Amino acid sequence: MNAAIRGITKAAITEYGMHVIGILDGFRGLVENRTMALDWNTVSGILTHGGTLLGTSRDKPKKMPMGGEEFDMTATAVKNAQRLGLDCLVCLGGGGTQKNALHLHEKGGLNVLTLPKTIDNDVFGTDISFGYDTALSIATDAIDRLHTTATSHQRIIVCEIMGHNSGWLALGAGIAGGADVILIPEIPYDLDVVSQFLINRRRAGKRFSLIALAEGARNKNEIVTEAVEAKKKPKIRKKKTGDEKDLVEGDDHDLLPVFQEPKASRLARDLQRLTGIEARVTSLGHVQRGGAPTPADRLLCTRLGTRAAELLAEGKYNVMVAVRGTECVAVPLKDVAGQKKIVPLNHPWIETARLVSTCMGDRYSV
Ligand code: F6P
Repeated sequence: MNAAIRGITKAAITEYGMHVIGILDGFRGLVENRTMALDWNTVSGILTHGGTLLGTSRDKPKKMPMGGEEFDMTATAVKNAQRLGLDCLVCLGGGGTQKNALHLHEKGGLNVLTLPKTIDNDVFGTDISFGYDTALSIATDAIDRLHTTATSHQRIIVCEIMGHNSGWLALGAGIAGGADVILIPEIPYDLDVVSQFLINRRRAGKRFSLIALAEGARNKNEIVTEAVEAKKKPKIRKKKTGDEKDLVEGDDHDLLPVFQEPKASRLARDLQRLTGIEARVTSLGHVQRGGAPTPADRLLCTRLGTRAAELLAEGKYNVMVAVRGTECVAVPLKDVAGQKKIVPLNHPWIETARLVSTCMGDRYSV
């Protein structure tokens, strides 16, 4: 994020003579009118720092949690943007951010411009999102390290990797780290297939097995159970129309999603039972979102950020700056918002994984 904020700000100020304001903590900061000046000095030295000097939040303008309830704060967000005299609101984020930015444009008439940022790499319309390469390198490094201990102790190790409902991160890190099994949401897995694969490996004399498990991966039985459970689930979220006067201090705990037990634990338990091989779990979690960005991400952020400034100078609004091949191009936001880029089943990476005998969990292989 910082590298992109720096790219936009430096190019906007020096090349195009713009005035840049940073909004703190994402859409919540816009609703609460919290900003900071972005100038040459504030963005100096942040290229190599992970995270964002502006802070962020998951809050959406149209469903802003306040005092245990949710309010539609779109009008306040728009009013505050107008008060600041913004020509354009630049939003950096994943799929949700693209949708919220489009919402502010369509419902509030704001000019917006977005950049694709997520470790999940699932933003539609761009070849890659920034953050992905850094997380990929962390997850790959973790798999490398897990190999050492797995082989010493003759264990199965299940390594849970983020990615939300897409498998880009687990697939990429799994291939790069040489995982023996890669399980991704796009390919529902069969527990018997996986356990038989692990038993065969042990019989063939392999001392260990490494499983790269995407957090969104599901086995075939879970998919059926979840569909039934989803029907029973009570709705706890409330939505109201609000204004600044409705902002009250309070406890938003009721609005938090149910705490998630790492999926990897359950899988490891099942595999130990089915194979008789000792299994261990590592859930990488938010480690994947920390630390310094990789050179590839810094380069990408700087390219996308400076291209964003160029588009702003041309008055080209309501677009996402996307990577297509070697180019950074503007794509209409309405063509990308609300869609997800999951791993296509015919993607060359899946074929590549299978060709090095990786089990993808769906069919028996050697
Ligand atoms: O979208 C990025 C991501 O890290 C996903 O991979 C993961 O599912 C989610 O965010 C975790 O969200 P939070 O940080 O809100 O727990």
